Amino acid sequence: MYKVLVSDPISDFGLQQLTRAEDVEIAQITGLTEEELISIIRPYDALLVRSQTKVTRRIMEAGVHLKVIGRAGVGVDNIDLDAATSRGIIVVNAPDGNTVSTCEHTFAMRMALARHIPQAHAKTVAGLWERKSFLGVELRNKILGVLGLGRIGIGQTRSGIWDDRYRLRSLFIGRKAKANKLGIKLATVDEIIRTADFMTIHTPLTNETHHMIAGPQFDVMKRGMRIINCARGGIIDEASLIEALDEGIVAGAAFDVFECEPPASDHPFLRHPKMIVTPHLGASTLEAQENVALDVSEQVIRILRNEPFKNAVTISV
Ligand code: MLT
Repeated sequence: MYKVLVSDPISDFGLQQLTRAEDVEIAQITGLTEEELISIIRPYDALLVRSQTKVTRRIMEAGVHLKVIGRAGVGVDNIDLDAATSRGIIVVNAPDGNTVSTCEHTFAMRMALARHIPQAHAKTVAGLWERKSFLGVELRNKILGVLGLGRIGIGQTRSGIWDDRYRLRSLFIGRKAKANKLGIKLATVDEIIRTADFMTIHTPLTNETHHMIAGPQFDVMKRGMRIINCARGGIIDEASLIEALDEGIVAGAAFDVFECEPPASDHPFLRHPKMIVTPHLGASTLEAQENVALDVSEQVIRILRNEPFKNAVTISV
């Protein structure tokens, strides 16, 4: 029997391939601390996580039978990939299943930002009829800067009729080879910072992208820019963004992600009147959660059974 531990809330429907398999014994224990996970991980062959569980080297050292770690989602920044590689543990993710949901959430955040929807809602339900303070902007004729050429970055402008009708001009940052393949001419970060009306972030968090938008970028930014980040916290320097909002350089920002999640209760994003925040909900739809759980379960079971598999983020050496 292969023993699989699911340590984050993952769709039951999506896990059915594992729960129904005769050669798999599955345990779902969520909300564990690192120490608690270390104390129970030893017998398991596979660990399935979303983003809450931080899979550290210590956990992998205690998981002496671990063969595979499955991530029900795209980002693997909560898994120590070096440790996994050195211990011969395969890490697989589910890169496709939540693309549409994350694109849609990002688009919703962009629209909410353009029209102050959460702020206006809060005032209206509080009994105030305030129209003057919520003057919005159209997307029409605007420039959208997209940082990142992955599925979600590209998805920001592949909305067909919307782009044509609204004459939204998009500027992209990404890898040259990918841009050539897609027939896209790349812009520079500097060009986007100086010209875009909306900037949306779609890169992973790496050493190169950490704080890629910080003080020096805000200093030369087009005044009145609106920024959306539904990718990863830490790509934009949070303290510099707050300063830029206060100085009127940035007109508003909508963030689904934070440098530290969940943020502290006194985090300035939570109180700033020009900020819209959601608790990392990009992939939180019924459909996306089922998709990623189905995808990752299939690969995990294949790996356990020594069958061909895909979506490996790191393969053992
Ligand atoms: C992801 O990396 O897939 C997203 O951040 C969504 C998530 O994990 O909830």
